[in-house]
Amino acid sequence: MDFRYSSIRKGILVAGGKGRRLAPLTNVLSKQLMPVYDKPMIYYPITNLMLCGIKEILVVSDSMNMNLFKNLLGDGNQWGMKICYKIQKKPDGVANAISLGESFIDKSNVAVALGDNIFHGNDFVNLLRSADSISKGSTVLAYPVRDPKEYGVVKFDNSGNVIDIEEKPELPSSQYAITGIYFYDNTVFKRIKELEISSRGEMEVTDLNRKYLNDKLLNVKIMGRGMAWLDTGTINSLQEASFYVKTLEHRQGLKIGCPEEVAWRQGWIDDLQLEKLADSLSNSGYGKYLLKLLRTKYTR
Ligand code: G1P
Repeated sequence: MDFRYSSIRKGILVAGGKGRRLAPLTNVLSKQLMPVYDKPMIYYPITNLMLCGIKEILVVSDSMNMNLFKNLLGDGNQWGMKICYKIQKKPDGVANAISLGESFIDKSNVAVALGDNIFHGNDFVNLLRSADSISKGSTVLAYPVRDPKEYGVVKFDNSGNVIDIEEKPELPSSQYAITGIYFYDNTVFKRIKELEISSRGEMEVTDLNRKYLNDKLLNVKIMGRGMAWLDTGTINSLQEASFYVKTLEHRQGLKIGCPEEVAWRQGWIDDLQLEKLADSLSNSGYGKYLLKLLRTKYTR
């Protein structure tokens, strides 16, 4: 696969937040490090950024968990990437976390992935790439959910044009929730500086997206039925996400959210490097899977 056309070269992975709905699990461990079936949650969003061709990623998290993320992901070299880290001192919201990446992003456009969002589907990769190829304004993805109250929700007019996005509305005006992957041009940092703190005490990503909308620079792409966007915010949804991954992986013998595989398939690491990574994990099913990839190279 050739991702050189990608217009966005850098990403931010937001892995902060209190994770209150998962307490006591989250009392001493970040939600984004919890297992989703056979791997840490953060492997899924990092893989999505990698699928956009993004090799330089800033992980934003709190001081308590930062060393754990560093131990897990390292400097990215093992996957042919560069991974940097920035502490968010207080859980001041997604837009605040993005603002911490200003010097890292420099003049580039930026893709932002929330560390607790799980996506899946063959067409999802194509959707990501098409979102990534729009270089001006902001592009977000909307997904129909049964109960959108916990999310940013899209409001449409009678002709289907997006007229607003509302954060966690009591009475959602559509089923379409804004998912946790966002693409921004470099004006994002200027726009964040103009934001005000919301009633829940955060700098909201929804307010940021509304700024783009008001300037007619927000592009909302609708995700179709054949794709999955899974929540991990509660014990039940976390378990459901694990079952989803387990069901597909068990049936197909192919892993979802495996950064080693994505790095290898994209040519960021070679066979020898993959073998070394696999050897260090060879006691687990995960390591055995990586070894099997080398033997069955042509399964996509
Ligand atoms: C955040 C955003 C919300 C979005 C959601 C996706 O919510 O504020 O607009 O729909 O992520 O996961 P939070 O996780 O802060 O509740």
